[in-house]
Amino acid sequence: MSKILTVYYSRKGENYWNGGIRNISKGNTERVAEFIQEAVGGDLFEVETVKKYNEDYYKCIEEAKKELRSGERVEVKNFKDDLEDYDTIFVGYPNWWGTMPMVMFTFLENYDLTGKRIIPFCTNEGSGLGNSERDLKKICIGTTIEKGLSIHGAESEKSRAQVSSWANNFI
Ligand SMILES: Cc1cc2nc3c(=O)[nH]c(=O)nc-3n(C[C@H](O)[C@H](O)[C@H](O)COP(=O)(O)O)c2cc1C
Repeated sequence: MSKILTVYYSRKGENYWNGGIRNISKGNTERVAEFIQEAVGGDLFEVETVKKYNEDYYKCIEEAKKELRSGERVEVKNFKDDLEDYDTIFVGYPNWWGTMPMVMFTFLENYDLTGKRIIPFCTNEGSGLGNSERDLKKICIGTTIEKGLSIHGAESEKSRAQVSSWANNFI
């Protein structure tokens, strides 16, 4: 039986939500990650940054833009020591400026993922998965990258059934 991991980054706090700013206690991607684990089992792991992004949404998006432009490998607070034991890895993130937050690059580049199956999922305000699948192919060498799932952030709370049926395709 394949060993399944759902790994994700998600930012709580002030976020853009259906055209307005709203404070959320649980990130959109975190919600979707939990639905995946509920549907297919396995383990859940949250990637966190050492740095704290600005609470202010607009300041945060400027910080993230600079990181992307410079290709900064944002420091990871917590690596998962046994990640290489898993063969099916759901990888979740919000769309930040058209791709994954830079911390996910740092996280994934830390491992030899050869032979594993990577299944992307992304919450966003309309840009879908953007370039993230292409970027995953560049950094997750030797893996199979499955077609990812895009969920509109504001719909994440209501996405349980959709997420569950999608995730079960891979089991
Ligand atoms: C720094 C930053 C950049 C973003 N860039 C985009 C973007 O380019 N396209 C888009 O559709 N949404 C963008 N968003 C919105 C998020 O992708 C969306 O709100 C997502 O659901 C947040 O997930 P989270 O709560 O798990 O962090 C951005 C949000 C932030 C904070």
